[in-house]
Amino acid sequence: MSSGPPNEIVELRDVQLAFGAKKVLTGVSLKVERLDRLVIMGQSGSGKSTILRLILGILQPTAGEIFFKQFEISRLKRRKLQQVRAQIGMVYQYSALLSSRNVRDNIALPLEELTRKSNTEIDRIVDEKLELVGMRDSKFQMPSELSGGMRKRVSLARALVMEPELILFDEPSAGLDPVISSVIDELIISLTARSKVTSIIVTHEMESAFRIGTRMAMLYQGEIIADAPPEELKQSDNPVVRQFLSGSTEGPILEGSKDAVATK
Ligand SMILES: Nc1ncnc2c1ncn2[C@@H]1O[C@H](COP(=O)(O)OP(=O)(O)O)[C@@H](O)[C@H]1O
Ligand SMILES: [Mg+2]
Repeated sequence: MSSGPPNEIVELRDVQLAFGAKKVLTGVSLKVERLDRLVIMGQSGSGKSTILRLILGILQPTAGEIFFKQFEISRLKRRKLQQVRAQIGMVYQYSALLSSRNVRDNIALPLEELTRKSNTEIDRIVDEKLELVGMRDSKFQMPSELSGGMRKRVSLARALVMEPELILFDEPSAGLDPVISSVIDELIISLTARSKVTSIIVTHEMESAFRIGTRMAMLYQGEIIADAPPEELKQSDNPVVRQFLSGSTEGPILEGSKDAVATK
């Protein structure tokens, strides 16, 4: 049995994943060091959300290994997996708040389900996290009364309540206008720094990627084809990377090229 990584908080080793005959990941290797903000970029349908689901242990790899700290995620029994998963915060693409619960009750949910904290203690934590994301005044509002940016803040607060060591963000600026999306990016940077938490951010938006990332990895046809600090990535002479960064229609990336993976 292999041992976990020494310095990294997350490591993927030659991870493969297929849905039936469709090969989505053909060999993904990645290391995430503590306090990194790793941005994973890639076309829509390239497998970015799939990578996050693998790290959370919601999906099992077809081959390869996934470590979170010393734990090999795919080998954990259900109970242990639940304990380990509680150390990972997740911010879903469209916030995924429960529409029947107000802001306070949405944020309290992980604490109610996974801890034995008293109501007073839960209230204290909820207030603290609401303050952090600038949403104290909305404590008793319902999700339907909030804008997209506000909902995103609430889902950020919810991801923080268990004091996670790692937070995963799936397309944090999806559906937000450019101004709000840069505000959310800044919030991600300040919160992760302040709470000393490592993060993995999935996005296909270049501007956001360069704003947030301390490191950037590019997923293309089932593999990580580039992995470097932003400034270094800008200098890449890989034609796929260049085309992706420039958003040009000229180059090796073709529409539907992700389907080529299936026939590899
Ligand atoms: N549960 C599933 N069953 C079958 N195919 C899936 C499933 N989840 C994702 N896929 C397929 O895997 C590919 C990668 O999906 P996803 O990781 O959601 O892409 P991204 O987040 O990069 O847009 C897509 O082609 C998608 O249709
Ligand atoms: Mg996705």
